[in-house]
Amino acid sequence: ELTYFNGEFVEPGAKVVSIDDRGYTFGDAVYEVTRVVNGRCFAWSYHQDRLYRSMREMDIPVKMTPDDLTELLEIMCEQSEIKDGYIYLQISRGAAPRHHAYDRSKLEPQMLMYIKNLDMDAIRKDEDGVKAICLPDERWLHVDIKTTNLIPNILAQTKAEKKFAYSAILFRDDICTEGACSNVFVVKDEICYTHPADNKILKGITRQMILTRVAPSIGVTVIEKEFDRAFVEDADELFFTDTIGGVIPITKLERNVVGDGKPGKVTKRLQESLNKLME
Ligand code: PDD
Repeated sequence: ELTYFNGEFVEPGAKVVSIDDRGYTFGDAVYEVTRVVNGRCFAWSYHQDRLYRSMREMDIPVKMTPDDLTELLEIMCEQSEIKDGYIYLQISRGAAPRHHAYDRSKLEPQMLMYIKNLDMDAIRKDEDGVKAICLPDERWLHVDIKTTNLIPNILAQTKAEKKFAYSAILFRDDICTEGACSNVFVVKDEICYTHPADNKILKGITRQMILTRVAPSIGVTVIEKEFDRAFVEDADELFFTDTIGGVIPITKLERNVVGDGKPGKVTKRLQESLNKLME
């Protein structure tokens, strides 16, 4: 485990953030979570592009060039000697006495980054199939920006875990958007469906990998379109995707079994191909 804050390495869990930091008072920050595999960041360039886009959309000034940020990430991987893990990276707008409106000229963005080991045994266990519940999507209409302002997500995830589910599938006006902290795919007649990458979902990097690299490489068709709850309930197969878990088969939806109650054929093939791509 190694932690970086504003230009220096600090003790993990160090109390270095100002109580006036807008990330703390307003959730006014953007973030990324990337996987470290074999001591290297997987799909980093995609995460980097999304991070810089989030900053542009949030009007947070960029203080570090993409090259310098990449170098810092590489140093974190090297110095920590972590092989299987993840990096959490957060940039807040900065610290100022609490006032809703921000003044760009008086704020210095604050950058936090840490690298941690992952419990690979727990992840492999989820690969055998998990339970999901359905909940209303109560978030704002710019969830394509990856901000730390995650109240609806954490409430939904907590409700799911209280019901012994892995996570929740969210619905906005009966349309399935994504998971509380992942994207959602439905498989019907061997074709995959997922919500289009608009302002109503986070354009997940794992989702993007499935669409552009994994599915084409094994001849699986993925269609980006809106679908409703009935379509989800009628699915042959269902799965979540996210950076930490990869492809996570959903074998139970609320009280019902999905398909035959085991991870689906298409889901398995996508999962195996993604795992291979990450090696
Ligand atoms: N969550 N949608 C939401 C709402 C998410 O929070 C995430 C990821 C995803 C999947 O994106 P990706 O494939 O890029 O991880 C989709 C991260 C892991 C988190 O908040 O910890």
